[in-house]
Amino acid sequence: MEWQIMAYDEVSSTNDVGKELSLKPPSKYFVVVAQSQTSGRGRRGRVWHSPKGNLFMSLVFPMELRHLNDMVFLVSLSLYESVMAFSPQAEVKLKWPNDVLINSHKISGILLEKGENEYIIAGIGVNLVSAPQIRDRLLYPAAPLKDFGIDVSCQDFLTTYLKFFDANFELWLEKGFSSIREKWLSHAIGLHQEIKVNLEKESKIGIFEGISENGALLLRQKEKIIPILAGDIFYKKEN
Ligand code: BTN
Repeated sequence: MEWQIMAYDEVSSTNDVGKELSLKPPSKYFVVVAQSQTSGRGRRGRVWHSPKGNLFMSLVFPMELRHLNDMVFLVSLSLYESVMAFSPQAEVKLKWPNDVLINSHKISGILLEKGENEYIIAGIGVNLVSAPQIRDRLLYPAAPLKDFGIDVSCQDFLTTYLKFFDANFELWLEKGFSSIREKWLSHAIGLHQEIKVNLEKESKIGIFEGISENGALLLRQKEKIIPILAGDIFYKKEN
């Protein structure tokens, strides 16, 4: 795809700028990238640590909202592949729904939102040189790629990322979600293992059996398979 790059020094959030630009899109596919964000946002209303040096970008493109879940996997799989391209030896894993972990440390975050004119916004933050000290014991610790010996500039990561994203997008267009899901699952952490899922008000323990056609996590409890659409997962041995 022809991506138009819209580069800024500082913005509130690249997702906010992407949403505003989608009112009158500068091109069919564009990326908002900023050196820092003053109100970087994470999932579930969390704050996203956004100092200079890390990568903050939002891919903005036309997409029917019913495919939003497919995009979660496409975006995170492309992140996995980008990190692996810079460091083939690294212990990189995907964690449902959209985290990329190295040695159990969260190195990136993804926030998908609805734009205007049937555009969607895939906000991606990559901890290249720094990461916040997370004290919340319910969250995975964060770390930058630099701590794993991966030294890459924002520019190089962005270029590499777009290459993998485009290839996966083509695959998705040609073969549908199942091919993306298969690739994603082959790099997933905890498949067929016992996990704990924290939902809004409760938590559930079961075996992580896979991902459904609409991206739900499939949790087996005895003979019952429960689809889970949103939650944070933990691997039993780490609790
Ligand atoms: C998460 O909670 O893991 C998701 C974090 C998403 C952060 C990125 S940084 C670029 C884009 N702009 C934002 O405000 N958030 C996303």
